[in-house]
Amino acid sequence: MIGTHKDLLGIETLKAEEIHEVLDEAKRMPKQDSLSGKTVALLFFEPSTRTKTSFELAAKRLGAEVINIQVSLSSVQKGESLLDTLKTLEAMGVDLFVIRHAEPGILNPIASEIKASLVNAGDGAHEHPTQALLDFYTIRERKKRFKGLKVVIVGDILHSRVARSDVWGLHKLGALVTLCGPATLIPKEAQGWDVEISYNLEKALHGADVINVLRLQLERQKQSFVPSLEEYSRLYGLDVKRLSLAQSNCVVMHPGPMNRGVEIFSEVADGPRSIILEQVANGVRIRMAVLRLLLGESQPEKTREKRCLNKNF
Ligand code: CP
Repeated sequence: MIGTHKDLLGIETLKAEEIHEVLDEAKRMPKQDSLSGKTVALLFFEPSTRTKTSFELAAKRLGAEVINIQVSLSSVQKGESLLDTLKTLEAMGVDLFVIRHAEPGILNPIASEIKASLVNAGDGAHEHPTQALLDFYTIRERKKRFKGLKVVIVGDILHSRVARSDVWGLHKLGALVTLCGPATLIPKEAQGWDVEISYNLEKALHGADVINVLRLQLERQKQSFVPSLEEYSRLYGLDVKRLSLAQSNCVVMHPGPMNRGVEIFSEVADGPRSIILEQVANGVRIRMAVLRLLLGESQPEKTREKRCLNKNF
């Protein structure tokens, strides 16, 4: 059970019942101040609005003390390693670290070196487990099921940690996932993910129950993966006409931040099928649930097993 784990590093190694456990925990009304006396530290080596703010709100609403480490002003700039930074902060009494970093898998070897819990808030193009969990929570609330649900993930799959976490989790939960985008933005490894792959958005959208639109991650693209933004938008931008090809009750998601007019048009992003702001709101719930489960406060009688979810990474 996830509540007996020390860390949340990814979705890939979680079982379906552990995912449901987090979603169920997020539905419960938490005891106020249930994390009173705990200290949560946020270390973001990459920019964030949603993840960082929602973790801070989640921790504060549970009564935890929160410290925001400004990485650009910390001794990381003098060459201190991430592990030494975490050990230093742990010695000051930090119980749980929320970390976003550009390097895929950086937290996995570190997790066994410290006693405090680690939560992966996005590691390069590898995983973004709490984004996936809030996506699953939002889908479950709206659709009441995962089995047989057609979920189309469209956009820059290659650079997306959200795509990886979503694909691995949705597959375990029984949904049918279609990945859609230009061939240059679909990683070769996706052939082994047990998903449909489509290069044609119109075809992919037929029968879709959920569309998750991903941002073109231009900051991670060291070469040109699309001829131009206009061309990309013409072939893969989600507008109302294309949305009409999906099921009539299909919902539209986007992890944010959005490039309006590129991968999604405002008529869809702000339209009646959009549940993008529901995702944002559910992000606080999910992060409260993850903090409660990892810090052992939802089941105070149990003994926390200090082990890492992804020890075989
Ligand atoms: N979805 C997401 O991770 O957004 P932020 O980069 O704003 O945290």
